[in-house]
Amino acid sequence: MRIEETARHALKPALAKAAGLSKRYVQRAPFSYKSFVIDALVDVEFDIAPASLTALVGESGSGKSTLARCLAMLEKADRGEIWFEGKEVSRSSDRELKALRPKIQMVFQDSAGALNPGFTAAQIIAEPLEVQRRESGARLHSRACELMEEVGLSPNWADRRPLEFSGGQRQRLAIARAIALKPAFLILDESVSGLDLSTQAQILNLLLDLQKAHSLTYLLISHDLGLVGQIADFVAVMQQGKIVEQGPRREVFANPRHHHTRELLASVRLLRSNFRTAQAGGR
Ligand SMILES: Nc1ncnc2c1ncn2[C@@H]1O[C@H](COP(=O)(O)OP(=O)(O)OP(=O)(O)O)[C@@H](O)[C@H]1O
Ligand SMILES: [Mg+2]
Repeated sequence: MRIEETARHALKPALAKAAGLSKRYVQRAPFSYKSFVIDALVDVEFDIAPASLTALVGESGSGKSTLARCLAMLEKADRGEIWFEGKEVSRSSDRELKALRPKIQMVFQDSAGALNPGFTAAQIIAEPLEVQRRESGARLHSRACELMEEVGLSPNWADRRPLEFSGGQRQRLAIARAIALKPAFLILDESVSGLDLSTQAQILNLLLDLQKAHSLTYLLISHDLGLVGQIADFVAVMQQGKIVEQGPRREVFANPRHHHTRELLASVRLLRSNFRTAQAGGR
């Protein structure tokens, strides 16, 4: 089934694509006037197949979030191109960007920090609809309640504020807000990290249901290769600003070509075996 799916995706042109993307940051050294450069993205070539779940993995600081922000057009790269739905969009005008933004949404790990604490749940979900003038008045509130139901939150909680929700419920709220504008592409930057395992599984199931219902394309950034190994169609591995390996998940896991992918997979196996040893010792 997965192999057939992979073949099906491979025949379609990419929904989103980065070509030769580079981004350099200049950082000030602590307690010093000296500054140094960080090449967060180095000539990145990256393709995301439509209606697929592509996972982006790599060690901390390898450039995953920078690539995500560039793909979401929240940050400009120094060099290279971003393509979306077959068009080069990196040099879009403000007007073109306004039309493009609703199609690409991001959900972050720390939704408590990303959601306005003074807003009610309904206001949080309704805000993008209001800004884009898609709905107004009573219809706006009822659409927000529909979206709450769609992500498994009771509309009776429409007047609650983010801090009155649990971590998993807040992620559902962030997802409802992200899908409000009917995007094509959702970027999930560590969106399930930091949740307990059963809540993680529930949120992932919700994401997979939404993907089916709305033909969404996902880019899932995750440190958790165990999780990626279960749900991704495609996997890309980043190291020091470069995509060092990209391919169908089964192929990458069964036959990793790059030594960094092998190292990452070995570290998951080591973690699992240490965990089992510790469990056995503790009994
Ligand atoms: N706004 C910024 N200003 C300066 N340096 C930055 C900025 N954003 C990212 N960097 C640097 O760019 C590099 C890549 O960062 P990025 O956040 O993309 O990595 P990441 O793979 O998402 O890491 P993590 O897994 O820890 O989230 C890091 O060295 C980081 O310090
Ligand atoms: Mg990151």
